[in-house]
Amino acid sequence: MNTLRTLRPLASRFQPCTLPKTIRQFSATSSKSYEYILVSEPKPGVGQVTLNRPKALNALCTPLITELNQALDEFNTSDSVSVILLTGSEKAFAAGADIKEMAPLTFSEAYKTSFIESWSQLTSRVKKPIIAAVSGHALGGGCELAMMADILYCTEQANFGQPEIKLGTVPGAGGSQRLTRAIGKSRAMELILTGKSFSGADAARWGLAARAFSDHAALMEGALKTAETIAGNSRVAVIAAKEVVNKSQDLPLRDGVEYERRVFHSLFGSKDQKVGMQAFAEKKKPEWTHE
Ligand code: CAA
Repeated sequence: MNTLRTLRPLASRFQPCTLPKTIRQFSATSSKSYEYILVSEPKPGVGQVTLNRPKALNALCTPLITELNQALDEFNTSDSVSVILLTGSEKAFAAGADIKEMAPLTFSEAYKTSFIESWSQLTSRVKKPIIAAVSGHALGGGCELAMMADILYCTEQANFGQPEIKLGTVPGAGGSQRLTRAIGKSRAMELILTGKSFSGADAARWGLAARAFSDHAALMEGALKTAETIAGNSRVAVIAAKEVVNKSQDLPLRDGVEYERRVFHSLFGSKDQKVGMQAFAEKKKPEWTHE
């Protein structure tokens, strides 16, 4: 939170986000108001955050990231939400970090204020699964934000890329690490060194995206359907499943398997494990209590 507080004055100095107040949106679930995102609960158990800075193709200025962190925190602690859908518009998921905000930054300002560090809160604090639904541009920080999600869906035409090299810099929100892990070193190196874009169809073919859909409508329908399916499961088991899969990214195999077994053991202490296994034996639908 300190980082957010220190970044705010910097951001307002550069006036990176200057949309009129008329687009200020109110969350369906709280009294909080947001300027650069929309928040809703489109299906039971599903919280949706829609990036909404259309004039800048959802460029991720610091105030937008602050709002996104707040909305995700709220869904993370909400009793009515099991899974989060993160999306943008048909034209742009997000065209990257805000170049106009970054342009005048000096090394010491970036270093002292831990510029962009608050982005890592997006994944480190949220225990519930996040599905990114990507249509249009997902460039630079937009591509990085999509890769922070637990499941990435996109349209076949989506425009992914890490074009930072063309701006005289490198990815700064995990792109060089997550893209390389997802698609392999040689391909990632080619994309990051040239700044060339790749399509949603490529993303799915290379395993970066779980699925690519024919168009925006199909993408949103498919993403919501998956979100509903996840929301229909035990929330305790869903959070545990996200935790153990993510450990595979950090731990060597032997430690990861050990970690998974410990979590598996711990779930014998949940009510939902009893509910689920008893319902199977009685050929009934489980009635989860999320305990
Ligand atoms: N930051 C700030 N403003 C941006 C932006 C960005 N990343 N991307 C687009 N915009 C703004 C444009 O400046 C323009 O604003 P004005 O109308 O006020 O001029 C508006 O959005 C519309 O953009 P275009 O007119 O350029 O739209 P287009 O359809 O012709 O092109 C595009 C679309 C190819 C995405 C092009 O906008 C573009 O190349 N954007 C920059 C992409 C980029 O380089 N992203 C990486 C940023 S660096 C980063 O993200 C670092 C990191 O790792 C965290």
